[in-house]
Amino acid sequence: MGCLWAILDEAHITILAVHPAYRRQGFAQVLLHRLLVIARQRGLAWATLEVRVSNSAAIALYQRFGFQVAGRRCRYYPDTQEDALILWRGQLQSSEFQHLLQDWQFPLEQRLQALGWKLLRSPNSPCPSLDLRPPLCE
Ligand SMILES: CC(C)(COP(=O)(O)OP(=O)(O)OC[C@H]1O[C@@H](n2cnc3c(N)ncnc32)[C@H](O)[C@@H]1OP(=O)(O)O)[C@@H](O)C(=O)NCCC(=O)NCCS
Repeated sequence: MGCLWAILDEAHITILAVHPAYRRQGFAQVLLHRLLVIARQRGLAWATLEVRVSNSAAIALYQRFGFQVAGRRCRYYPDTQEDALILWRGQLQSSEFQHLLQDWQFPLEQRLQALGWKLLRSPNSPCPSLDLRPPLCE
């Protein structure tokens, strides 16, 4: 599941989560890629989010897409009082970023297909979206 809020020229990524049973297959990368494509199509200039400082898996994922640490919110999470890192990714409207998104798309989708997932495009959807069919049982 991935979600963003468009606020002025900013894409605030509010949720990015993959069910534990389906992690480490590349779903989060596909979701984040789609969120950034949507942000670009909406004319947004920046993407931002908060992430727990201990969440090294998510931080590694965001850094792969060019997010950088822009600050820290102290005791942001009420349950554990843990700090949040504020991550930012600028230049969403640059042609360089457009090319990066295009370059990333094929290997991301190929990884899922190699694991047996079938990607179904929705041509009439206003946003680029993917329906995923699970691998068939033997
Ligand atoms: C973070 C999360 C979304 C990653 O989902 P995922 O589908 O497993 O991620 P992907 O398979 O696309 O992996 C993307 C990259 O993230 C990094 N990564 C993901 N899980 C990792 C882990 N357990 N340890 C280290 N790096 C990890 C790796 O760089 C990985 O690339 P690789 O598999 O080629 O090495 C998932 O672990 C999750 O839902 N966590 C709970 C919710 C959460 O923390 N969301 C982020 C809040 S901001």
